[in-house]
Amino acid sequence: MEHRFNQLLRDIEEHGFAVCDRFIPDEAAMAICTEARQLFGEGEFRDASIGHGITEQRVSEVRGDRILWLDPDAITDAQHIYWDEVAELREALSQYFRVSLPWAEMHLAAYPSGSFYARHLDQFRDTGNRIFSVVLYLNPDWQQGDGGELRIHLPGGHLDVAPLLGRLACFRSDLVEHEVLMAQRTRFSLTGWMRRDQPIPVFL
Ligand code: OGA
Ligand code: MN
Repeated sequence: MEHRFNQLLRDIEEHGFAVCDRFIPDEAAMAICTEARQLFGEGEFRDASIGHGITEQRVSEVRGDRILWLDPDAITDAQHIYWDEVAELREALSQYFRVSLPWAEMHLAAYPSGSFYARHLDQFRDTGNRIFSVVLYLNPDWQQGDGGELRIHLPGGHLDVAPLLGRLACFRSDLVEHEVLMAQRTRFSLTGWMRRDQPIPVFL
């Protein structure tokens, strides 16, 4: 049987990234979206930062999103469908690329109107523990002109991906430079990384 992730795996092998529509059913994506909007409305999201450890800093000229990390022990029913699907994708990527990927981390992200994330790589230069980036978009009724596209930079130019409900973008965290273009209305996503290690817990 053709593996259902075959196209995605081949695209990542050939281009470093893949885009997959309806990664989960629309109703499941919509349920995550509804929860995200509610949590955002309740003020549960925090300003994102760049770097980590002592080099961590918030620089709104670099990224203007607000985030909420998912607690793996408190995944909602709506998030579970996606979480399980990502676990299967992680297994498939691990086998296909022969890399150990024991861990995934994810956060909800909201880009308020006027915010963006400047061009960057997801792998921290000094650690290299993020191997694949996965982003699920959560914007029903997204229109041309709403901005917030994921711009993927490639050797020959760039490609813009609209953040449509249920669409997944997956790419090599160490290789693919990308940015989020300025959103013209609040843009939601669930962004994650498959790691080759388990992060060190924060004690402070
Ligand atoms: C990130 C990021 C892309 C997107 O959070 O590092 O690049 O499309 N997100 O949300
Ligand atoms: Mn990124």
